[in-house]
Amino acid sequence: MDKPILDVRNLSIDYPISIGTVEAVRDVSFTLEKGEALGLVGESGCGKSTLGLAFLQLLRAPGRIIDGQILYHGNDIVTMKNDALMKMRGRNIAMVFQNPLTSLDPLYSIEDQFYETMKQHEPKITKAEAAEKAGKVLEDLSIDKKRLYEYPHQLSGGMRQRIMIGLGLILNPDLLIADEPTTSLDVIVEAGFIDLLAKLRREYNLSIILISHNLGLVAEMVDRIAVMYGGKIMELGTAEDIFGKPLHPYTEGLIGCVPNIKLDQKSLVSMPGSPPDLVNPPKGCRFSPRCPKCMDICREKEPELKTKEKGRQVSCWLYNK
Ligand SMILES: Nc1ncnc2c1ncn2[C@@H]1O[C@H](COP(=O)(O)OP(=O)(O)OP(=O)(O)O)[C@@H](O)[C@H]1O
Ligand SMILES: [Mg+2]
Repeated sequence: MDKPILDVRNLSIDYPISIGTVEAVRDVSFTLEKGEALGLVGESGCGKSTLGLAFLQLLRAPGRIIDGQILYHGNDIVTMKNDALMKMRGRNIAMVFQNPLTSLDPLYSIEDQFYETMKQHEPKITKAEAAEKAGKVLEDLSIDKKRLYEYPHQLSGGMRQRIMIGLGLILNPDLLIADEPTTSLDVIVEAGFIDLLAKLRREYNLSIILISHNLGLVAEMVDRIAVMYGGKIMELGTAEDIFGKPLHPYTEGLIGCVPNIKLDQKSLVSMPGSPPDLVNPPKGCRFSPRCPKCMDICREKEPELKTKEKGRQVSCWLYNK
């Protein structure tokens, strides 16, 4: 088997703030194979965006990686120098951010936005060459290439969203990180978006990390799912395993909040209790204060993420004895 495209090892990320340190990501490890799609799910504030931004060394201040490695084709992004990072962003790994609708510059035509993106990596490219490539990508995204000459305010939300993805794809990356890509879309546009992502994955041979608290979306799109809680991976497995046979009580809770994952596209807000304070996380398992199956040991000692069966990991004392 090929080496994984991404191999994340024991990654921990802090935000030091005035009242203490937000332990936003703790000891996260997983791999992503070539062409694979992985979903990162969990309630708001569990560290999904922090993790996604770290893959491109784009953490917002005062965030910093305090431990671990992010190996992209074997090269550690954590220790990569600025020049190499600049080259890698966009060309190798592309990111579609949470709130993409504010990420297009209103003063530039779509053509110019593509041209500027391409010029950063290919300084000699002409505007005509850039427009030709951009037009092809727009067609892959089912957008008429005449739209190149329009400005963001002339386009619908769904179209702007697709243009953001096009800007992500124009340099032919092999990894796309999409952070809540459909939050601002209505359900019909969202359904089309899932199909589009599946098509792009095939045509561009992309590996994808899809970050979302929308379980319905993730279930339809990905091969494997990592369930995060309070900065940690609680469970990792194939989408079928996670939905069909959840092991962790937190995963059970999440699925319980989505009675019919095909119909209910809503978030995970209905689980009782609230996520932990990451400045003062609970002792032991971070989920223990909310866990219906909590035992004494769970309040004392943190369980490790252990392999339960092939391709299936869980961090829970129920399985860790
Ligand atoms: N720039 C920052 N400074 C301080 N704390 C931050 C910063 N960004 C995120 N955090 C904290 O880090 C933790 C993880 O946040 P993150 O945005 O990664 O969560 P998330 O899972 O993406 O949530 P959401 O679903 O709401 O997007 C939270 O406790 C958040 O308050
Ligand atoms: Mg987020």
